[in-house]
Amino acid sequence: MSRARAKTPTGGAVLVTGASSGIGQACALRLDRLGFRVFAGVRQVAAGDALRRAASDRLAPVALDVTDAGSVRSAVDAVTAAVGEAGLAGLAGLVNNAGITVWGPLEFVPLDELWRQFEVSVFGQLAVTQAVLPLLRAGRGRVVNIGSLSGQVALPFYGPYAAAKFAVEALNDALRVELRPWGIRVALIDPGSVATPIWEKTLAAADERMREAPPAMPALYGPAIEGVRRHARRLARASFPPADVARSVGRALTAGRPRARYRVGQSAQTRLLLLLAHLPPRLRDGVIARTLPRYP
Ligand SMILES: NC(=O)c1ccc[n+]([C@@H]2O[C@H](COP(=O)([O-])OP(=O)(O)OC[C@H]3O[C@@H](n4cnc5c(N)ncnc54)[C@H](OP(=O)(O)O)[C@@H]3O)[C@@H](O)[C@H]2O)c1
Repeated sequence: MSRARAKTPTGGAVLVTGASSGIGQACALRLDRLGFRVFAGVRQVAAGDALRRAASDRLAPVALDVTDAGSVRSAVDAVTAAVGEAGLAGLAGLVNNAGITVWGPLEFVPLDELWRQFEVSVFGQLAVTQAVLPLLRAGRGRVVNIGSLSGQVALPFYGPYAAAKFAVEALNDALRVELRPWGIRVALIDPGSVATPIWEKTLAAADERMREAPPAMPALYGPAIEGVRRHARRLARASFPPADVARSVGRALTAGRPRARYRVGQSAQTRLLLLLAHLPPRLRDGVIARTLPRYP
């Protein structure tokens, strides 16, 4: 079979985390259209109802907070029961998408916020993977992790988010080889900037951070923080649709020979970032520093 040729989806079952909005929602709907039986992980009932209205009656919302061990267990139990009732051997895929963005100058990032970033994007992701692996093994399923360019180059003031996405890269690389003996393929999706609610949430969180910050934070970093916020607003406007990411997720789940990494939505800016990732640190730092307003 050629590398590009796709397997015909067989109505296998997939679990998508963080399916209430953005990339996760687009993935749930795309995979539903491809014929998968989608279990859409959501934290709010209303989000599940909206998905159900937009999809075929195969799609089933599942209550899933990836940071809550009890919620992960209940979700996996519900998926296991439904997969069994449908006469399927196991899961055809897990899409690890749930994520948040914590940012700010590292000098002032509250450690519990850094912890929350890792809890959702790293520990939560691995917790779901661990819980679902028996089902994936039974169904010779695949794991698709949503990474980020921030997992390859850490920009100033995005330190917590980048640290979590670097960790996702590492877990993804290790898992890909560990699971080879069972034929469980692991792919990383690497989106550039995508038009999703994450930007508004990030800016709102930044406003809150500024309100709660000790006076020293705006005094020391004010112009730089404002520059990063302007940059985030620009990126949000110049973003790619989440459907582009969902298409790559569909390919990762259906291609005869899925790639280890899918890059999606590469603008000139994201290509520049990738280039920066490969520059010697001193050169890279100089280029990045020149994009920031002068501070202090
Ligand atoms: N947008 C981009 O430019 C971009 C670029 C590269 C990578 N990514 C990555 O893509 C993924 C999706 O982000 P997005 O842009 O689509 O943002 P989004 O619209 O804000 O979606 C984030 C999703 O994660 C869910 N979530 C948050 N905390 C959770 C938890 N504790 N348990 C379960 N679900 C939780 C949210 O659910 P609630 O609605 O319940 O909060 C929501 O469904 C993230 O991993 C992000 O890092 C995004």
